[in-house]
Amino acid sequence: MYKLEMKDITKTFPGVIALENVNFEVTQGEVHALIGANGAGKSTLMKILAGAYTGYEGELFIDGNKIAIHNPLDAKRNGIVIVYQEVDTALVPYLTVAENIMMDHIVSEKKDVFMNWKEIKARAKKEIMDLGLDINVNQLVSELTLSEKQMVLIGRAVFQKAKYLILDEPTAPLSVEETKKLFEIVRKLKKDGMSVIFITHRLDEVFEICEKITVLKDGKIVGTYNTENMTIDIVVEKMLGRKLEQSYPKVNATIGEELLEVQGLSGTGGINSANLHVRAGEIIGLAGLVGGGKTELCKLLFGEGKVTEGEIILKGKKIKIKTPAQAVQEGLALVPEERRKEGVLVHESIATNITLPTLKSYCKGPFMQKLKIKKTSLEAIKKIGIKTPNERQLVANLSGGNQQKVAIGKWLLSGAEVFVLDEPTKGVDIGSKAEIYMLIGDLVKQGKAVIYASCEFSEILGLTDRAYVMYNGTTAKELITKETTEEELLYYSAGGGSIK
Ligand SMILES: Nc1ncnc2c1ncn2[C@@H]1O[C@H](COP(=O)(O)OP(=O)(O)OP(=O)(O)O)[C@@H](O)[C@H]1O
Ligand SMILES: [Mg+2]
Repeated sequence: MYKLEMKDITKTFPGVIALENVNFEVTQGEVHALIGANGAGKSTLMKILAGAYTGYEGELFIDGNKIAIHNPLDAKRNGIVIVYQEVDTALVPYLTVAENIMMDHIVSEKKDVFMNWKEIKARAKKEIMDLGLDINVNQLVSELTLSEKQMVLIGRAVFQKAKYLILDEPTAPLSVEETKKLFEIVRKLKKDGMSVIFITHRLDEVFEICEKITVLKDGKIVGTYNTENMTIDIVVEKMLGRKLEQSYPKVNATIGEELLEVQGLSGTGGINSANLHVRAGEIIGLAGLVGGGKTELCKLLFGEGKVTEGEIILKGKKIKIKTPAQAVQEGLALVPEERRKEGVLVHESIATNITLPTLKSYCKGPFMQKLKIKKTSLEAIKKIGIKTPNERQLVANLSGGNQQKVAIGKWLLSGAEVFVLDEPTKGVDIGSKAEIYMLIGDLVKQGKAVIYASCEFSEILGLTDRAYVMYNGTTAKELITKETTEEELLYYSAGGGSIK
């Protein structure tokens, strides 16, 4: 039975103590959840194990023997493999699945040694089959879905004979089906004796596959627990240091005039005859499964892609939105799903990101009103609860969930009239989620309109007034939220309504 221990780990960044005297241990064949609010230090702790940092205090042990990890190779030698959330960075898109899985083997082959491609393919294929996957090893990685890419990375870890597999928020972008598949694999790896460290903000998942739970709060360990002795409520309290009262706010907004109407809209991304309308003071949901067309419709509304048919009517006036800039000018805001790629400028500061959509209002003639920018940014940081030493911090240095909060904050304060939010709470901790729902509530109280896309039915049911279920690129069904159920949402999401 092997064991991995981290002892007295302290890690600081300029102005931030990310980890303070942290003790953490995993034993063989254990699925261990690492949880905590955004910015608690989960990713940092795991990056230390994975060799992403050279400088930190504390010691690491395997089976009681001290080990040194200061680069990814050290980690690998000790059987530790991490799958980051941004799976793309770890794969070579223009190589095949087989080549990616066998990458280590391929690059470590000595010069002039004959490369046995047939064998490489066969071994990769065996790895994929053993995991119970259905992926063609000859396919290019660039053609895979995100979930398949994750699987390739896990396959590579197995091939490298990893003993400790770290999964940092693997399920955030996955559909329910894909998550199920991932869990099957995790269970199998566990049976084979692998230890899995699992980071997630979805606590039901923790209770589904983890036997141990370690909670981090503000860089310190709150405790390690056996899942069987815990409940979601207790875990939340340990994470946040307070009870979570109520997740969805009761919003009493006055429903006003029609703000946005979409008639028979077709275009990029397979959107086909979508219809919807939203009034001032209303939150409407776009429900549906991954692939139903929610993201594509959001993008089309925001001027990304091309409208081939249909109308977008804003306050009774037909508009043609051809670019996102135009959409902003018309009073639309979009919080996109893929935050790192589209939602924020990671190499800029929080202040720059927050004030960017409304930059003009900070200019007086040729002068930028720096103080005003600072004030607005600090207000946003406070309102949305972004964990950072100051407003000048680069977004790249924030934790995953806090980056998402910047993407949201940037638009919530923009003064737009119609807000299109695409899975805005993905990767956001349960406490901050409630705060974001409150902010959305505030928006509609001010007479704004909100379109909220989510694949989590509980969010649609808790937050919206009406919902459109997207299926196959169209708004397949309109439902009054009060009168619907999770079952009904699922029924229409799965195409139930289109079976004549
Ligand atoms: N490179 C960096 N430079 C400065 N600060 C950093 C850096 N990386 C992380 N931090 C800070 O360290 C703290 C812990 O961040 P970490 O990414 O470990 O949080 P997390 O628990 O993974 O949160 P999330 O759930 O949002 O992913 C945060 O305050 C974060 O801003
Ligand atoms: Mg993280």
